[in-house]
Amino acid sequence: MQSSPIRPSAPASPLRFAVTALLLAALATSQACSTPPGADELAEARRRGRASYLANCAPCHGVDADGHGPQGELLDSQPRDYTDPQWRSAATRASVRAAIADGVSGTAMPAWDLLPEQEIDDLTTYVLSVAEQGPRVDGVD
Ligand code: HEC
Repeated sequence: MQSSPIRPSAPASPLRFAVTALLLAALATSQACSTPPGADELAEARRRGRASYLANCAPCHGVDADGHGPQGELLDSQPRDYTDPQWRSAATRASVRAAIADGVSGTAMPAWDLLPEQEIDDLTTYVLSVAEQGPRVDGVD
């Protein structure tokens, strides 16, 4: 009986290698997308967050993110010092994001819900990074 030309034991053809390589590449790409953001991506988010921070937040929170912006000094409840490690260890991504998106009631902190979601995420990344990496970002300041 004659065997099928595409039986499993057929010698591997160059085409078969190419197809396998393509499948592996596709798999690697799909895995890369589902992994948490890498260092480059975080640095980019911090950079975008710093730019938005300077435009929107520094008047109250200060260019050095220490709560000493020119408007902040005039407020009843002075903004916090984000360079303070004690503040940082109590803050979570969720708490900071919520403060930015919804504002802080009873204070001068407005809700920034008109900003795009991505920008609120970037601001959150920036604010959380200050205690460890400092307020300034190369190429933005
Ligand atoms: C009009 C002044 C003002 C502006 C502008 C402002 N804030 Fe605030 N913010 C405050 C005050 C006052 C508080 C309340 C005191 C505090 O918690 O720091 C506050 C609180 C916060 C908090 C909560 C801190 C905590 O953990 O309790 C975050 C986070 C924050 N602001 C981020 C931002 C960001 C990001 C921007 C810019 C998009 C911004 N703020 C713009 C005045 C301001």
